[in-house]
Amino acid sequence: MKPLSSLTDGLVQSEIRAVTARVNAVNGINLGQGICDMPTPDTIKEGAKAAIDQDKSIYTPYDGVPVLKERIMEKVRGFNHIPIQGPGNIMVTAGSTGGFVTAVFALLDPGDEVIQFEPFYGYHSRLLNLRGVKQKALPLHPPAWEVNFDRLETLITPKTKAFILTTPNNPCGKVWSRRELEQLLELMKKHDLYAITDEVYEYMTYDGRRHISLASLDGGFERTITLSSFSKTFNMTGWRLGYATGPEEIIANMGLLSDLFYICAPSPLQYGLAEGFADGPGYYEDLLRDYDTKRTRMCLALEKAGFEVPWPEGAYYVFAGFRPLSGRPGFDDARQACYTLIDRIGVGSIPGSSFYSDPADGRYLLRFCFAKKEDELDEACRRLEGL
Ligand SMILES: Cc1ncc(COP(=O)(O)O)c(C=O)c1O
Repeated sequence: MKPLSSLTDGLVQSEIRAVTARVNAVNGINLGQGICDMPTPDTIKEGAKAAIDQDKSIYTPYDGVPVLKERIMEKVRGFNHIPIQGPGNIMVTAGSTGGFVTAVFALLDPGDEVIQFEPFYGYHSRLLNLRGVKQKALPLHPPAWEVNFDRLETLITPKTKAFILTTPNNPCGKVWSRRELEQLLELMKKHDLYAITDEVYEYMTYDGRRHISLASLDGGFERTITLSSFSKTFNMTGWRLGYATGPEEIIANMGLLSDLFYICAPSPLQYGLAEGFADGPGYYEDLLRDYDTKRTRMCLALEKAGFEVPWPEGAYYVFAGFRPLSGRPGFDDARQACYTLIDRIGVGSIPGSSFYSDPADGRYLLRFCFAKKEDELDEACRRLEGL
């Protein structure tokens, strides 16, 4: 038979799924995959049920139902301070992943170069590979994950088209400061570059830090596609709803692609989600308080177990180093350490090697997700403490 498309040559399933299968096989506690398993807010669930009962079941406009777009516009203006002009600057997407796919195809041609910051979210990297985009990465190091802007500038070539930025970051939790974003924007203006920003953890910033959107800075909006999602904010990773914000001509091109790839995001779920915004600011305060408590629990347990723990500034992962444990059997490298924890104590994590272009850079790191129900997280922490 003739060969299948070469597009999938070299494409492998994310390590995250392999870990999930192994943890499930021992009925363990999965701190690997970032699937917050807390309940979706009742207002959203009731809204979606009502929409189903009212047969709101047909294709929606490709860029989302107007009532949801209205809510998103209010949020983008009020929380993110992004200077959107109107609905043409917003598109509802099939999760932020759907937004990233269309952003990459709308902005980048095969052979273009982008610059990422390591450690990075692997889905971004794999999709860019699929599009034939060349990636360069600036490594950031714990505990401060500081950006060396002089080194960053040396990575820019005439083929460079965009930065890919995730703030707050998965896996290391770095929250980009205003000063850092300003410096990045200076480079973007100087070298005529775009940015695609992934801000799905925007509500999870700790120790008084505030999330800042690159697109909110003076001159940032014109050059930035901002992606966000409801997956993490409302505990609904499986609903597949997110959105993109950006200049009208870019969003229009992304819309053409989104229509082609997905037609639209799920209809009744969009109506349900529109209701979730009614819960007001108290919802986000509670969410942050809950995650902050869990962050403390997780970090202290890992420290007690002997890990090096740079406490995350944002998001809901701890990217911890196990070099101090590497003399023990089963802790030679990240994959081995990950499997050792599953086999010995039934706790799943993700090998740090999955977050670097050179896996050796993540050899002594594991990512633990603390977006878990309290009793499960507590049990996982107890097991780690007794390691
Ligand atoms: C940085 C980052 N971006 C995007 C996603 C996926 O988001 P969505 O469910 O909105 O596609 C994740 C999920 O873990 C993530 O960590």
